[in-house]
Formats: sequence, structure tokens, C-alpha cells
Amino acid sequence: MAQEDVFKKIVSHCKEYGFVFPSSDIYDGLAAVYDYGQNGVELKNNIKEYWWKSMVLLHDNIVGIDSAIFMHPTIWKASGHVDAFNDPLIDNRDSKKRYRADVLIEDQIGKYEEKIEKEIAKARKRFGDSFDEAKFRETNPRVLEHQKKRDDLHARYTEAMQGPNLEALKQIIIDEEIVDPISGTKNWTDVRQFNLMFSTEMGSTSDAASKIYLRPETAQGIFVNYLNVQKTGRMKIPFGIAQIGKAFRNEIVARQFIFRMREFEQMEMQFFVKPGTEKEWFSKWKEFRMKWHQALGFGADNYRFHDHEKLAFYANAATDIEFKMPFGFKEVEGIHSRTDYDLKQHEKFSGRSIKYFDPQTNESYTPYDIETSIGVDRMFLSIMCHSYEEEKLENGETRVVLKLPAALAPVKLAVLPLVKKDGLPEKAREIINNLKFHFNCQYDEKDTIGKRYRRQDAIGTPYCVTVDYDTLKDNCVTLRFRDTMEQERVSIDDLNSIIEDKVSIASLLKKLQ
Ligand code: GAP
Repeated sequence: MAQEDVFKKIVSHCKEYGFVFPSSDIYDGLAAVYDYGQNGVELKNNIKEYWWKSMVLLHDNIVGIDSAIFMHPTIWKASGHVDAFNDPLIDNRDSKKRYRADVLIEDQIGKYEEKIEKEIAKARKRFGDSFDEAKFRETNPRVLEHQKKRDDLHARYTEAMQGPNLEALKQIIIDEEIVDPISGTKNWTDVRQFNLMFSTEMGSTSDAASKIYLRPETAQGIFVNYLNVQKTGRMKIPFGIAQIGKAFRNEIVARQFIFRMREFEQMEMQFFVKPGTEKEWFSKWKEFRMKWHQALGFGADNYRFHDHEKLAFYANAATDIEFKMPFGFKEVEGIHSRTDYDLKQHEKFSGRSIKYFDPQTNESYTPYDIETSIGVDRMFLSIMCHSYEEEKLENGETRVVLKLPAALAPVKLAVLPLVKKDGLPEKAREIINNLKFHFNCQYDEKDTIGKRYRRQDAIGTPYCVTVDYDTLKDNCVTLRFRDTMEQERVSIDDLNSIIEDKVSIASLLKKLQ
């Protein structure tokens, strides 16, 4: 099945099984805004718990905060967001649609890459096992031609994005003869800058009201609280502050479901270090964050680092952790060595000294910062994409199963009475009443056992137990495992010890030690 079709199926599965709904669904939705349903919110909470505990519980020098979404408007001037948090946009006069100029050009670069891949695929088919891809890339005239066009365009684009140079971006769109995918025309406006921050007004009277912003990242809430936390928590450098919270960006192009949203959630941690030690800490955080991802067991091949060649002027190292989505390797997390830029900017704009005083050396300095920043929704999407499987069974049927890591699954155990009578429902409820303090259980008595198993497979429940007539005599149930579909008879008294450890967040955290 084409990856595009797989992705469409994942999106509709998310809606059908209560994971993600379009926001304001009965009003036909609101672009790039989504709601999480009864199963989605459980999975999302489990992701957040895994991240939070991996930061705050596993590191005795990291604490958490929860800062407000609204902040003093000068913060966004100091951070550079008012002046520079822009995307270059362009309109097509015929379709009246708005696009990001950089995305149109990146798509064009992608088209050259696709052409190269097609040539390679054709040649591989023709030559079979004797095919030498590296040699083919170096010598095939058509591949060389596409590669040159791709590289020339990439170089022009990278240069135009410095600044950025808006005329140069428009010229690339004209020279490459990029057409609007809807109208099919090249009737483009000039490229303009578009600030991504949402704004509103605070204050009860119109003349006293002031413009404030919905935060586009949670990071600034950490920077402006850095000294409060350091002093009240008696934190010593190096130390970190973690935060999970909503962020808002007026994205021009909203694509790929929850990958790019206008309201989303971030999990960010700022780690403050002594200047000169930041490169060492950057490497440590790169390693730890990759370990966090890989502990989910999705396979190392699905992740890669994308080290930034062109750095923001204040950064001295930056990388993305990318995950293999059905639409290619995409950024899920960013790790940045941001020097002392943010703290110094807040010192300058607030007029307050927020230097760290080192009691051991008796010196004051502005710490350097290593940031790890991951989107909860992108993480959610990567987990759904990897876990969704359509499995052909021996009897010819197909089952849809979400092979979620057990610790993240919304429901850990489904308890199913074989029939709705003769005391079996009561026995099933009794099991849930004992286990519900340990993990999330679900009761289901409707339809055949087979159909109930399928429903649980579709939401990723790792364990089901069936209560039958023998249960009333021997106090045992049939335990069924989601991934293997194997079944075994176990005592009800043993259920907690069999399941609890495997479904706990601690089981993931232990892999990070
Ligand atoms: N404080 C740094 C910062 O915000 P970023 O690369 O702009 O850096 C960090 O965002 C992470 O937030 C991204 O790696 C991504 O996972 C998530 N993210 C950013 N924009 C998003 C959007 N529009 N929708 C969903 N997630 C987004």
C-alpha cells in the first residue's frame, strides 16, 4: 500500500476510535486545530508522563514549572519573536490561496529528488542484484542532470533564506516555473513576511487595552522564571527547568494532520550550564534524548539526527531528532545550544540583573543554555504511525492492531465476561474493582468475544482477560496477549503481578538508566 494511503488510514483510524477529532467537528472543523478524544487523551497523558518523569524524576538537578500562556508583551520583543518570527508568504491571485514561499521551493527541490529516486528504482529493477547504486548516481546522465538542478536550486534557496531576501525567493518561484497546485497558474503576488504569533488585547477598556500574544513556545516562560527557580530551589549550575504546555502559531500552511497545528503542546527543558561547558552538555543531551525515543522499541533505523549546518546567529550547535513518518523523515524534537542569548536579552529589556552567582568561585555570570524541545502532538503522531498495523491472519481475515508500547496504551486491560448472565459480569466487575487502582481497565460485554478482541486491538490494549464459567469455580481467567494473540490460563490473584510492571511508565524509565 502506498505510504500516502497508509497515512490516510491512520488519520481516519484516529477519528473512528476516539483518538483525535477535528476541532469544532459539527461546524465542519477549524483548520489545523484538533481535539483529543477519550483514547487520545490517555495516550497523550502517558507520553507527557514519560517525558516529565524522565526529566524531573531521573535528574535531581531538574525541576518543573507551569508558567502562564499570557506574558508581558516585551518578552516577545526581547526574544526576537515580534521582529523575526516570520514565514515568507505568497498568494496566488487566481485560486486566492496562500502558500509559504519556502515550502513551495522545498517541494520543488523534493521533485528533483523524486526524479532521481525514480531513475534509481527503474535501474535497480533492470539490473537486479548486480546493481551498483553509488556508481549509477555518479555516472548516469539523467541522474546527474537532476542532481545538478537540485543542488543549484538548493544553493540559491539557502542564500535567499538568509535575511531572508524576499525578491530572490519570488524570482526562484518564477524561474522554476512553480505553479499553484489548485489553479495551475503562475499568477503570483510578491513574497511578504507574515508573523506567526496570534495576538489579542488585554484590559477592560479599549483605550487602556494593550496588545498581548499567545505564546508561540513555552521556552520564554522558563527563561523569565530562571532566577526565581534558581533562588527558591537553591539550584546550582548545571541545572534544568522543564515545562509542558500549549503553544500557538498562526501557521500559513497547515499540513499532515497533527504534524503542523495552530494550537499544539510542547515539552521543553532548558539546561543552564557554565559558559565553555555547553558543547559537552549539548552532546550529553543529544545522547539522552535519542535514548528516550529509542526506549519505546520502534527500532533505531526509524530515527536520525539532522545536524544544522546554518545556525541561528545566537546558537553554537543545533540538531533535530527526526522520525520516519509515512511522509518521510520529519523533525519531532529540536536540541539547541542557545548560548546566553535569551537570558542576556531579558536582562537588557527588563533592566534587571539575572546573573548567576557561583558561591564556590565567588563569580557572577550569565549561564549558557541547552534546550531540548519536543512537540507532544508530533510525538503522538509518530507513535500512531509506527504502531498502526493491518495484519493478515491465518484464517484469511485482516485485523487492525495498534502495537502501542504497553506503557503508553490508553487502556491496559480489558475484562470481558463470556456471556452477560450467570454471575460472569459481576465477576468481571470484581476483577476491575481490584485492579483499577493500579492501571486503566475497561469492561466490555457487547458482541462476540472475537469482536471485542478486535475493538481492543484497534485501540492498542495490550491485555484482555475473558471470564467464563470455569472462572467461578477455579478463580482463573484466560489472558490474551495483543501482539501474539496467544492465550494462557492464569489465576486472577496473579493478574496484577503479571501486568502492572509491563504497563507502568517505570518500565520505560528503567531503560534510560
Ligand atoms: N523553543 C524552541 C522551539 O519552539 P521549534 O523547533 O520551533 O523550537 C519545537 O519547536 C518542537 O515543537 C518541534 O520539534 C515540533 O515537535 C513542535 N512544533 C513546532 N511547531 C509545531 C506545530 N505548528 N504543530 C505541532 N508541533 C509543532
